Amino acid sequence: MMDAFAADFRPGCDINLGVGYVNERTIPAGLFIDELQQVVADPMRHKTPFNYGGPRGSARLVESIRDFIIRTGRGGLTRDHLCDRDIIIGASGVTSLLEAMAQVLKPGIVVTSDPMYYIYCNLLERMGFEVIAIPEDECGLRTDLLRERLEQLGGRRSNISFFYIVSVNNPTSTILSNTRRQEIVAAAAALSYEQRRKIPVLFDTAYDDIVHDPARAKPLSALLFDEPGIVCEVGSLSKILSPALRIGYLIASPGPLLNALIQKTADTGFSAPLFCQEIASRLLDAHIEKQLARVNRGYREKAHAVRGWIERELGPWLENCTGGSAAFYFYLTLKDIATDESSLFFKYLTRTTGNPDIDGQDSNKNARVLYIPGCHCVHPHGELRAHGLRQLRISYGFEEPERIEQAVRIMREAACFCEKAVPAPG
Ligand SMILES: Cc1ncc(COP(=O)(O)O)c(C=O)c1O
Repeated sequence: MMDAFAADFRPGCDINLGVGYVNERTIPAGLFIDELQQVVADPMRHKTPFNYGGPRGSARLVESIRDFIIRTGRGGLTRDHLCDRDIIIGASGVTSLLEAMAQVLKPGIVVTSDPMYYIYCNLLERMGFEVIAIPEDECGLRTDLLRERLEQLGGRRSNISFFYIVSVNNPTSTILSNTRRQEIVAAAAALSYEQRRKIPVLFDTAYDDIVHDPARAKPLSALLFDEPGIVCEVGSLSKILSPALRIGYLIASPGPLLNALIQKTADTGFSAPLFCQEIASRLLDAHIEKQLARVNRGYREKAHAVRGWIERELGPWLENCTGGSAAFYFYLTLKDIATDESSLFFKYLTRTTGNPDIDGQDSNKNARVLYIPGCHCVHPHGELRAHGLRQLRISYGFEEPERIEQAVRIMREAACFCEKAVPAPG
């Protein structure tokens, strides 16, 4: 769907609220150029930045990530928490570490939240895993339902491969509460004990650095609750520096799983390009605090404005709306309007109704608006399936505010169009 749209996307005309791209203005391009020059100018500190790297990542970047976490108190972690844990760098962002996990673990059941990070869950299912998605509420994955579901699985609990938990969820932007983080680790620990094997809990913290609502406490790392050594945490520099760096890292206890992930990174072609890792190291050492403040301020302002437009334009049709405190997604549930690709709402926004008054002429289509239909975000066999048909994710990351406002106005037109098209009862 995204590919088809991207192929004939008209910048300045079409509006893409579908992509999870960051805002271009948050990317410190000038600093990249300066720091690359410093990398080249200092061969003692940055050895062979244009040669092959290694499968664990640049030692300098690993140290910078460790310092960054300790200095900023990311996740409440201290030097003591990290002293017996290793940090490795993926081949291409967190995405490659997630894929590596799926490659090295035996296919089985993966437990996650519903709505789910559909890109990874889709990959998992293509690789032969069975995804079990547990509905979330405003505090994230519901641990009461998790316990119930694990109980219901009975003997099939032996098929559980790992837990995949997105701590600030994509698509809903729901911040998993610290209590729930602890309860999930406790449930996985009990299961590991029962099954007499370590069942990994993979926490994806891609958005934990952009909890931009000052009223929300900074989330704690699940590593704090990890007595049995089953938690692996992945973090990304994509959302706070630049996705193009392709820097994702994983923190875990040393052991066979970590070794297998390192081997997989070697098989893929080593960790991210070394000069990117060296630039990232310098940025973390010298600029990250300011950068974090800038990024968070930007998304905070946008979140506030976009929520206002959603309420103003879509209020009459809005059943629920999550997001606005972290990441850059709002996840909407509409009252009676279908949102999937065959729906009138989607057709209106993609200008495929067949009515030239709405769509524009072939060579001169009216502005199109892209979003992610909820049916892709909820598990196709889960409890939220029917809900998903009335849901959508919109991203306020990439597009500029005035374009988002225009898009939400067009969404209102689409909702009115759907309402008129509903045949009168009887
Ligand atoms: C939940 C989640 N995990 C991982 C990623 C990918 O991160 P990276 O750019 O480090 O590969 C994304 C990107 O949008 C994401 O939403």
